[in-house]
Amino acid sequence: MIDIRETLQLKTLLSIAKRIVKRDTLVDFREELKNSGYNFDETILDFNLLRSAFSFILDGGVKREIKRVFMPGFICPVMAEVVKRSNKELVLVDSDLQTFNMDFDFVTKFGVGKNDAILINHTFGNPVSIKTLLKIPQNNRPLIISDNALALFSEIDGGYAGVGADLIMLNLHKQFANTDGALVIGNELLKNDYDVIKKDSGIYKNFTDVVLKTGGIHQNLINLIRSIMPLYKEVSAKISRWSVKRMSKFGGLVFRESLGNLKNEIEKRRELAILYDKLLPLKYFVPQKIEEGHSFANYAVRLKPEYKALRDRMVADLRSEGIFVDRMWYNSPTGKDYKKFIPQTLNNTKILAKTVINLPIRGDYSKQDVKYLFRAIDKILKNYSCE
Ligand SMILES: Cc1ncc(COP(=O)(O)O)c(C=O)c1O
Repeated sequence: MIDIRETLQLKTLLSIAKRIVKRDTLVDFREELKNSGYNFDETILDFNLLRSAFSFILDGGVKREIKRVFMPGFICPVMAEVVKRSNKELVLVDSDLQTFNMDFDFVTKFGVGKNDAILINHTFGNPVSIKTLLKIPQNNRPLIISDNALALFSEIDGGYAGVGADLIMLNLHKQFANTDGALVIGNELLKNDYDVIKKDSGIYKNFTDVVLKTGGIHQNLINLIRSIMPLYKEVSAKISRWSVKRMSKFGGLVFRESLGNLKNEIEKRRELAILYDKLLPLKYFVPQKIEEGHSFANYAVRLKPEYKALRDRMVADLRSEGIFVDRMWYNSPTGKDYKKFIPQTLNNTKILAKTVINLPIRGDYSKQDVKYLFRAIDKILKNYSCE
């Protein structure tokens, strides 16, 4: 089985248990981030989810009034939903077909100012340089928010992704086997409203959460079930429900315990990615054009447009072979629920949503595992071409 999910391992739970016994459970993220190379001397607020952090920012959590929010259409759809619900004007913009990242053309096309916010996303860990945005004069510069979901330790311009932005949002549960958790870092943050937000009750919400998110032999059974499940139909983020809460204490402990390991993990992924580049069949796929500091939440490729009809079938076929690939963001907010927020045709976004496949990449894969992955891809593609 080759999996893209992180599950909470027994050894992490044991080291947390040791801390609890020693009564060392005070979680100070500032120190942890500094020890890992982030050198922020700024306000850090924690939340249960990144979407909650974003809701907090848009609903008055920052020093200036925000009226309009620009963001890439190729993004986790819930982010567009947050803006919609905050009653700000949402403007979805197109992405680059090579890097899968937001195209900054919109800055000149629309004109931007102090009451605008720009949400930048480092797609799957591929960092975006914000130098172009920093050239906008200070007195007219929009609030620059970096969405670092899946991009902790992604690096660019001599620092971590998003450095230079007014705010950086990190979610932890996508890169760590964490149950919840997000952080926002930046000096624009206001603390008054934050102090009244309740902590998430935490640990796991129910028994299903425990089963799905903890490592162990039960995962083999879960993977077996996942391998025969049909792919999800597109579900609009319109139906998403969440409440803005602070991170649970347990989520914080898992974060602190895992932070150091993640850095090593990413180094290993960067080395493995070289082998992926060599084995990728270029007849069918275009690899994501990446910056050196990519943190490889996954290894993303897109099928050439002429093969786009194969994408979902290929994802299902690989899953039935026990290889759990993803197709983020097949449900990009480009459907009818978001039509009025799309002032230009988002041609590239639509192509990406229909053609991207996220291959799993993990530091503990051997070369044999990687070869197995690409042999499975070859086998499937050969079957298609015989039909
Ligand atoms: C780029 C991006 N932004 C935001 C989110 C939402 O994060 P959360 O589930 O913590 O609200 C996700 C989810 O994975 C994401 O990938």
